[in-house]
Amino acid sequence: MKVTSLFTNYAASQGLVALLRDKCRGDELVMVDQSYEKLSIDIPELASADLLIIECPNAETLDWGVLEEFNLTYPQATSVLITDGDMERILIQAMRVGVRDVIRESEAESQLPGVIARARARLEAIAGRNSAGKIFTFIPCKGGSGTSFIVSNLAYIMGTVLKKKVLLFDLDLQFSDASFYISDDQSQRSLGDLVRKTEVDGNSLEAACIMVGKQLWLLRAPQNPEQAVGITPEQIDNILTVATKRFDYIFVDLERTLDPLSLRAMDRSQYVFPIMQAVLPYVRGTQRLQRTFRALHYPDSKVRLIANRQGNKNSDLPVDKIEAALHTRIYRQLPNDFPNASVSISSGKPLYDIAPDGLLTKALVQFALQLAESTGDHVRESSAGEHGVSSAWKQFTSMFR
Ligand SMILES: Nc1ncnc2c1ncn2[C@@H]1O[C@H](COP(=O)(O)OP(=O)(O)OP(=O)(O)O)[C@@H](O)[C@H]1O
Ligand SMILES: [Mg+2]
Repeated sequence: MKVTSLFTNYAASQGLVALLRDKCRGDELVMVDQSYEKLSIDIPELASADLLIIECPNAETLDWGVLEEFNLTYPQATSVLITDGDMERILIQAMRVGVRDVIRESEAESQLPGVIARARARLEAIAGRNSAGKIFTFIPCKGGSGTSFIVSNLAYIMGTVLKKKVLLFDLDLQFSDASFYISDDQSQRSLGDLVRKTEVDGNSLEAACIMVGKQLWLLRAPQNPEQAVGITPEQIDNILTVATKRFDYIFVDLERTLDPLSLRAMDRSQYVFPIMQAVLPYVRGTQRLQRTFRALHYPDSKVRLIANRQGNKNSDLPVDKIEAALHTRIYRQLPNDFPNASVSISSGKPLYDIAPDGLLTKALVQFALQLAESTGDHVRESSAGEHGVSSAWKQFTSMFR
């Protein structure tokens, strides 16, 4: 990979320079000293960089427009800013122009190895060399769209029906609903256990989860909000890396508000699924999310819109009108299934267990099959057949003939 690094304080950055030389031995490494001039990121050394590192304590001097153009021109590239100052404000600005990491000067040496590894992993994933577990992230376009309910039941079906090893990662640190939709387990195990550890491996990850059936591991958000304070994007990233080596699929449930943790999960995902309903407030919420996805330069193929609770002829907006307003296709429509959803929720049991032939259950089985197919993961018909989805599988595969 090509790594370009710009320094506005080269003399004081010798630790970083040494680290880059060490970690990027097999890479094309370009370092540009701009200590004695105004920082300029409009320079030929940036061309085709896969990782752009800008060391600039004073972010006021940055030309955000040029940075945005760089990220637009090289969507495979990762850009990183090492800076000081009001981090919260800089972070928002940086996210808008597609910068993936903002690091404090004092933490640069400890964080940079992770940044380099992630940039490499992204590049490999884009080149299709990643055979590790697939990450799918689900985000509500507006509160109450059914995201936690859908992702938890879909993850359960992927495990139980398609016999995959699945992790459901509840990253809704505020409400943590996913756990309650499919399990009444009272144990306190959660993400809080993992982030206190210095090293996370596959065993400690599994030990922090509760089991739902035989194939689904559920990593709950901390049940107590204080435990969620201080969780860093690097910790989330590390857990996802470990998870991709241990699981076939990782389903992430996000809350509506975007933050650096959810951004990291979305970044690492093969697909991001915004969940909406066919009424106006959700269309507006979806437009808001679309703007963010554009700023992050997510390709259209990564973002797959789901319309949930479909079927109310009196109040639903027509699908073609929604698609025209959003300039995108709806990837899947999921039916409203109030009777089965309410039994499932009040009993704390997955939909598939209480209503295997229910309207929404069947749609979720189709969805799981489609996901497996789209990742090149061929589901054996015999294993699907054991669970009564053989005909669904046949019907599904016939769509591609
Ligand atoms: N297809 C469906 N049919 C019937 N009820 C549904 C359906 N999908 C979701 N629900 C119900 O909608 C309610 C809200 O769902 P959920 O908590 O999953 O939404 P959310 O998008 O995760 O909300 P939040 O913004 O709070 O995270 C739940 O009671 C759930 O059972
Ligand atoms: Mg939710």
